[in-house]
Amino acid sequence: MENKEISQAVIGRLPRYFRYLGELKDEGIERISSQELSDIMQVTASQIRQDFNNFGGFGQQGYGYKVEYLYEEIGKILGLDKTHNLIIIGAGNLGQALANYMNFERRGFIFKGIFDNNPALFGRKIKDMEVKPMGEMEAFVRENEIDIAVLTIPKTSAVEVAEKLVQNGIKGIWNFAHVDLNVPKEIQVENVHLSDSLMKLTYNIIRFENENNN
Ligand code: NAI
Repeated sequence: MENKEISQAVIGRLPRYFRYLGELKDEGIERISSQELSDIMQVTASQIRQDFNNFGGFGQQGYGYKVEYLYEEIGKILGLDKTHNLIIIGAGNLGQALANYMNFERRGFIFKGIFDNNPALFGRKIKDMEVKPMGEMEAFVRENEIDIAVLTIPKTSAVEVAEKLVQNGIKGIWNFAHVDLNVPKEIQVENVHLSDSLMKLTYNIIRFENENNN
């Protein structure tokens, strides 16, 4: 496939396509038109065609998309045809909740370990994995070829921990700490702030109320 620059907006929509196609596949549906997909996903058929055209189209005119093929191709684009070794740093509320989220492994994310700097947590089992001390983290990342680290630690220590991760070969950081990490550009960072989503919700509530009161 041609390696052209795809907009982040398109990339941002791919996981949702992937999720819906996975459900269709599980239901045994083999083929779907862009109109049918549009109806299920509440996205216009033209948006779907435009998005898919970025990757060569995936379908045939008047014939629809082959669900399994499309699911696999989008999975490949998202890097989900390979497995990714993942660790969690910070075994508190959020780290534990993420560790217990089973779906990761279905998508090829292999949960390899969870680390914390609180001795009271060392050895505690979270999803069959003992919490390890931070002192073991750097060697563990190198020896287990960890590509992704999930940061669920306070912002005060996130920058320093990220630096250590980078020095030991991490490729991507899923950052839940409320701080911007200063990492080299070859390291991919995805910042997740659940409250952003909540603020979008409040914005939409207010917008809807304003539009309907005027
Ligand atoms: P928590 O206090 O339950 O857990 C934090 C854990 O990090 C603790 O177990 C603590 O011992 C550990 N820790 C602290 N410094 C460390 C270090 N240098 N190395 C290793 N482990 C360290 O907090 P919770 O609720 O799990 O939240 C974790 C972080 O995520 C907080 O900073 C919070 O603000 C943030 N957060 C972000 C959200 C988001 O949407 N981005 C949502 C909820 C929390």
